[in-house]
Amino acid sequence: MSTNSTTTARNTVRINIINKNLFCQGIKDCGILEANGDIMQYIYCMKQKIHYVCSQCGHAEPKWLGRCPECGNWNTLREAEKQTGGSVKKTGTNLTTVPLFSVQKKEDMRFDCGNEEINRVLGGGIMKGSAILIGGEPGIGKSTLMLQLSSSIKTNGRILYISGEESPAQLKMHADRLGIKKATIEVFPETEISAINTVLDRVNPVLVIVDSIQTIIDHELGIVAGSVNQIKYCSQELIEWVKTRSAALFLIGHVTKEGSIAGPKIIEHMVDTVLSFETADNDIRFLRTNKNRFGSSDEIGIFKMSESGLVPVKNAATLFLEQRAGELPPGIAITPLYEGSRVLLVEIQCLVIPAKGGVSRVFSDRIDARMVSKAAAVLEKHLNIRLTDYDIYVNVAGGLQVKEVGVELPLCLALYSARLSVPLPHATAICGEVSLAGEIRTIKRLDLRVKTASELGFSSILGPQVEEKNSIKDAEYKGYASLKEAVLSIFKRRQQ
Ligand code: TYD
Ligand code: MG
Repeated sequence: MSTNSTTTARNTVRINIINKNLFCQGIKDCGILEANGDIMQYIYCMKQKIHYVCSQCGHAEPKWLGRCPECGNWNTLREAEKQTGGSVKKTGTNLTTVPLFSVQKKEDMRFDCGNEEINRVLGGGIMKGSAILIGGEPGIGKSTLMLQLSSSIKTNGRILYISGEESPAQLKMHADRLGIKKATIEVFPETEISAINTVLDRVNPVLVIVDSIQTIIDHELGIVAGSVNQIKYCSQELIEWVKTRSAALFLIGHVTKEGSIAGPKIIEHMVDTVLSFETADNDIRFLRTNKNRFGSSDEIGIFKMSESGLVPVKNAATLFLEQRAGELPPGIAITPLYEGSRVLLVEIQCLVIPAKGGVSRVFSDRIDARMVSKAAAVLEKHLNIRLTDYDIYVNVAGGLQVKEVGVELPLCLALYSARLSVPLPHATAICGEVSLAGEIRTIKRLDLRVKTASELGFSSILGPQVEEKNSIKDAEYKGYASLKEAVLSIFKRRQQ
C-alpha cells in the first residue's frame, strides 16, 4: 500500500476512501489487533477529517445517512474531507482598520450601461466589482438582453461572454440580428470552471457574462452540471474573481414555473443584485430588481421584444391602459401604481357573476387572490352587498403583476361597480389602501401619482384624505376617510 498520502501528522493527513480501505485491510492482514500510537493518531485524524456531504444541497453530516435531512433526497450523501485550517494564518492579509469618515469616495464606481432602463434597474449603472444574477424562464430574452448590454455598455475594456448554451456561430447569428458590431466582445464557449478561471486571468475582462450558471461545472464535484453544489461552488469562484478585479459579473440563471431544475435562488445571497426577467402581454418584458446592495430593490425596467431585440418602452405610464372613448364599462377602475421610481396608470378589470353550484370562487392571477377575497369581505361587511354566492374574476390589463397596497381601493370600487353593474366615472384615477375596518389609508408617493395622472389627462383623482391639500394641486382631488363614504359619494351620483 502506498503510504505517501498517509502521514501521521495531525494536520496533514490526506487520504481518500480507496486508500483508507486499503490501509485498514492492511492493518487486519498484518494481524495488528491493538493499534499502536501512530495508527491511533491516524484514526483520530480520520475521525476529525471525514464527514458526509449531500451532493444536492451541500448539507454536511458526521455520519452517513440514506436520506439527506436538509433537502430530503435519497442516496446523495458522499464521503468528503473536512477543510481544517482553522489554525492556518492567512499571509499577506492587511489587518489595519479604517475609520469610515476617512474613506475616500471613488469616482467612476459604476459602468454606464448605455441603456436607460438597465441603468435605472441597477440603481444608476453597474457597480464595479459587483455580481448580478438575472433569472427568467427559458426563451424570455436573457441572452438577447446580455448581448445588447455588451454592445451598449460604455467601456473600452474587454467583454467576455462565457457561453455554455450557444456556440460562437449561434451567438454571432444572434448578434447579427441585433446589429451588434462591437469589437471588444469575445466569446468563450466553455463550461469547465478551471478553464474559465484561466481564461479570465488571461483576458482580464471588465464585464463577464455567464450564460448560464446552470451549465458551468467543476469536474471534481461530479459529472452533472446544474446541481446545487455545482451552482454554488462555480458561482463563488466567479464572484471572487470579479470582486478582486473591479470587473462586473452577470450570471444568467434559468427558472422554470415548476421549479424542477435547481434554480438560481440558491445563490441569491451570494450576489449583490438579483434581477428577474418576466413576460407580460404584447411582447412586453419586465426587468425587476428583487435585491440590490447598490440601489433600490423595487425598481422595474420595461422593454418590448421586437424584430431587432429589446427596445426600452418610453410611454410606460400609459402602456397598461386600454384605449376607451367615453364611459367606462362596469367593473373597470384605473389606478396610478407606484412601481419602482415611476408611476404607471393601470386598468383593473372585475367581473362578478352568480357562482355555479353555490360555491364562490376567486379567479385572479395578476392580483393575489387573497387580496381580492379581502376586498370582497370588506365590501360585504361595510357596504352590505352580497358577494358570497358569486364567482369573482379579476384581471390587470397588459399582464402586469400588481402587489402594492394602493390597488385595494380601486379593486374594491371595481368589484362594487361590477356587482351592481354601475360604471365608475370616466377620466378618474383611484388609489388607496383599505383596512379591514373599511378605512382608506394613505399610500406612498401619493403626490407623484396625482401629478402623473393629471398630466395624462385624468381630471379627477380619488384617494385617501390628505392633510396638506396644497401639495396636490394639478387635478381635482377627492379624499375619503372610509370605503363607505367613497362608495356613497361616487355611486349615489352615478345612480341618480
Ligand atoms: P433568448 O435571448 O435566446 O432567450 P433566453 O436566453 O432567455 O433563453 O431569446 C429568445 C427569443 O427571443 C426567441 O423566441 C426569439 C426572440 N427574439 C426576438 O424576438 N427578437 C430578437 O431580436 C431576438 C434576438 C430574439
Ligand atoms: Mg439564452
